[in-house]
Amino acid sequence: MAAKRFLHGADYNPEQWIKYKREVWKQDMERAKQAGVNELSVGIFSWSFLEPEDGVYDFSWLDEVMDMLHENGIRAILATPSGARPPWMAKKYPSVLRMDHERKPNVFGGRHNACYSSPDFRRKVTEINTQLAKRYANHPALYMWHVSNEYNYECHCPRCQEAFRDWLRARYHTIDNLNDSWWNTFWSHRFSDFSQVESPTTPSMLGEWESPNHNLAWRRFCSDHLAAFFELECEPLHKYTPNIPVTANLMHTFPGLDYFDLGRRMDVVSWDNYPRWKGDEEDVAISAATSFKHDLMRGTGGQKPFLMMESCPGAVNWGDHNTLPPPGTVLYQGMQALAHGSDSVQYFQFRAGRGGSEQFHGAVLSPDGSDQTRAFREVSETGRMLEKLDEIAGSKTDNKVALVYDWHVRWALDYAWLGHRFDQKYEETVQAHHTALTAAGYGVDVIDQLSDLTPYKAVVAPMLFLLRDGFAQRLTNFAKAGGVVMLTYLSGYVDEEDLRYMDTPPLEALTGVRVDECDAFTHGHENSFLWRDVQWPIKEVAQLSTPITAQVLADYQQQFYKGMPTLTRNAVEKGYCYTLQARTHIDCLTAVYQDLLQSHGIEPLVGGLPAGVIATARYGADGQRYLFLLNSQREPVSAALPAGLTNLLTGETTQGDTVLNAFSVTVFRG
Ligand code: GLA
Ligand code: ZN
Repeated sequence: MAAKRFLHGADYNPEQWIKYKREVWKQDMERAKQAGVNELSVGIFSWSFLEPEDGVYDFSWLDEVMDMLHENGIRAILATPSGARPPWMAKKYPSVLRMDHERKPNVFGGRHNACYSSPDFRRKVTEINTQLAKRYANHPALYMWHVSNEYNYECHCPRCQEAFRDWLRARYHTIDNLNDSWWNTFWSHRFSDFSQVESPTTPSMLGEWESPNHNLAWRRFCSDHLAAFFELECEPLHKYTPNIPVTANLMHTFPGLDYFDLGRRMDVVSWDNYPRWKGDEEDVAISAATSFKHDLMRGTGGQKPFLMMESCPGAVNWGDHNTLPPPGTVLYQGMQALAHGSDSVQYFQFRAGRGGSEQFHGAVLSPDGSDQTRAFREVSETGRMLEKLDEIAGSKTDNKVALVYDWHVRWALDYAWLGHRFDQKYEETVQAHHTALTAAGYGVDVIDQLSDLTPYKAVVAPMLFLLRDGFAQRLTNFAKAGGVVMLTYLSGYVDEEDLRYMDTPPLEALTGVRVDECDAFTHGHENSFLWRDVQWPIKEVAQLSTPITAQVLADYQQQFYKGMPTLTRNAVEKGYCYTLQARTHIDCLTAVYQDLLQSHGIEPLVGGLPAGVIATARYGADGQRYLFLLNSQREPVSAALPAGLTNLLTGETTQGDTVLNAFSVTVFRG
């Protein structure tokens, strides 16, 4: 089979079937061809098979698998096996086991639970990665490295505590500086030496858990420590296979790691997508959330094409209620990934195992290998579609609107003692702005505070609670140069160290508004404001502020803050900064974005889209535009599209009103 540029594949665990390899592996290859599968990810959980005893390696089965993939025209994404360890390792080197926040060591079991400070674990990982890289460096099937699996990290063992202290020494240099940064005169917490610092404990009276500054430092350390471990894993890969790209599969908004930082260290970002489709009107919101996650994941890779490394061709089995996805889901899910810049549609997993906790998780093949299942038919249909759309592979997005989602903001809000303590809804809020922007017809890039702002005409940064060094200035410069900035309540409250400001907060000149107080609603509280003659409800958060240089576009209608601004606009040299002072309905956000962005000449990809429909665009190297229209509704809708777009599959050209099928993604050239 000729190699396609779009990857269509799955996690593949042939070692689980080694005793039946003659029939099963052979059938796997036949089914792969039938389904248009041109990639399989191998070796993800193979450590005990690759190294059955300490220092005793057996690559014979993997050699056979790699050869077999190559013979069948299938590219291998080869994993490093650190996602799960063999049992002998825990017995022989107990330091590989993590310790929880109560300082209790784990016992062997599960996965994704190694201590990354353990010298034994680090050595064993380097050894096996070196073996793999050397052995397969010139293997024609080797296409990409898949480092570990769904990395996460938090370990409170003595070695990790020491690593935390070293990280603190490197960041703060003196203990005095750390004390000042954490405001440690409070409750008599001043340290006199770095050795006194302990990792925080999850809410419990066991130790420190209340200090936001201390907690933020710990989150940052965990993220940096994992990133350094990722680099350690990559060393032999870069050394022996300098031309093979490296990825690690991410989990969208997983709170534990700064994925922008991790993404910047990879050649290609990949992620695992598990929306829980319902088959009813709820799918509109599920699709919107998935679109946000795709855009976020693309952002962590610097807006390059990414891979959807995993998705389920049936029902997952880890929920409390594992609803079957209705027919057509595999195709919609795959096409949605393409629409947001993915160069692959991949599944978990190719063939379900007979036992283990994932025995009933959806898979391309059931253990019997039948090609008569719905999953197999839908995967095959997707394979055929990918072949038809192959010219799109490698094309890039070029969006003019950026939306800021920053893990440091998220962490600071997670530990912030104000407003809706423990649930500030940062992720939900950024996602709501994403949904509104896409509903208004815009393609959106998700970025963090370190990203380049120059490609954009508008930057939206909801709940920008913590300002990382230099960002307020860069945002101000962006507005001064003619950009449009949109901010909200709870922005610019603390600096990089999570400390409040002693003098004028850095966003005040940009917003032209002085923040006075911020209210957290409970039941019974309500307020509203007028926009386009509609009375919009305010929910949960309302900030009270006084305009300085800003113009008031809308104000509160009720309570003691009646008349104070809800939406302001501040002219900043050639550009503008808008500030929304309260949380409101997504439909209101959509209306606000439609009005404001267009008033500044920032045009949507497609205007006037019906509810539940969004547009995205990718551009080929030759400048060719591919326009995707996603209808997440369970009904066909008619959309007024620009004339002259060519449907890539039917060859028909649009002439205005165009029917978009129920729960479908349509691709146009033009
Ligand atoms: C994750 C893992 C896979 C598998 C799936 C099941 O994404 O990476 O190994 O466990 O979940 O949904
Ligand atoms: Zn540890």
